[in-house]
Amino acid sequence: MLRVFLWLGRNEWLKTRLPRLGFMRRAVRRFMPGETMEDALAAARPLQAAGIGTKYTHLGENLESLAAADAVADHYATLLDRIAEAGIDGEISVKLTQLGLDLDPETCFLHLDRLAGHAARTGSYLWIDMEGSAYTDATILQYERLRAAHPRTGICLQSYLRRTAADVERLRPLDPSIRLVKGAYDEPETIAFRSRRGVDSSYVALAVGFVSGSRERPVRLGLGTHDVALIEQIAAQLAALGIGRDAFEVEMLYGIRAAEQLRLARAGYRVQTLIAYGDAWYPWYMRRLAERPANVAFAIRSILP
Ligand code: FDA
Repeated sequence: MLRVFLWLGRNEWLKTRLPRLGFMRRAVRRFMPGETMEDALAAARPLQAAGIGTKYTHLGENLESLAAADAVADHYATLLDRIAEAGIDGEISVKLTQLGLDLDPETCFLHLDRLAGHAARTGSYLWIDMEGSAYTDATILQYERLRAAHPRTGICLQSYLRRTAADVERLRPLDPSIRLVKGAYDEPETIAFRSRRGVDSSYVALAVGFVSGSRERPVRLGLGTHDVALIEQIAAQLAALGIGRDAFEVEMLYGIRAAEQLRLARAGYRVQTLIAYGDAWYPWYMRRLAERPANVAFAIRSILP
């Protein structure tokens, strides 16, 4: 199931046709408040009233021209201004292939540098998403360079990759901000844990190891997962070490486990919702379907009258 949906998400022919279908557009609304920046910002207001902060991703990946990357960077700069004007507790989360990583890493870095400076000036924060394993090295290199000049920046790391414990140690001297996720791509056994147990135990070890090894340091850890049992397990292990819930944040996607997001915020966890928006939602939506077969049933039901 996972492989089929990830393949559907990469298929160029389907990528241009399926998103035009009305039922697809209706189904994706469960995970996306709308295609525009204003739709995304409007979705933040009730969350903020409930004590939940927001992150924003403008959907799209693997661009074909540097001009397109310039447009993406301009879009995020405008978004940062709009977040500040609206008084929203919001941060941005970018994919490096959207900023031109494939085409020219130096241009990508210049965009990152500009956006990180803009984020700091407007009181926001810039996060870098992690893509498939072909990009892990390049993404970490860009973050190392960025973080040296911009403290208000963070990077996503994936617990399914066997290399991640070494990557955390490599980044530790920078007092990094890390969003830990399980990983959304189809990676081979040679480089990734494939069993749920392997991915989950790696997740707990990485989270607890990162926070407990960085006491009194200005690090930030975001637990980017909807797996509440895992979050509570990590909170309990940290509590046993005398570390409170304010040592990490819980980050979930818009529309997924919304009731749990509210419950955790009420229970004293710091919670953030990542809101994705934009018209290039197709491959991203296919990854959400791949994660959970129940979402496929939901998508099929939305075709029916
Ligand atoms: P898991 O898949 O084990 O799910 C735990 C429970 O959560 C499920 O039983 C179900 O109840 C619920 N759930 C999970 N996914 C669901 C869905 N799609 N629909 C409905 N319910 C669902 N990946 C990546 O490779 N690079 C990245 O940069 C990011 N960034 C990112 C940011 C944030 C804030 C989040 C929450 C996630 C990501 N991801 C990501 C995706 C991540 O790698 C992973 O694929 C998903 O979060 C699904 O895994 P869970 O950790 O939620 O656990």
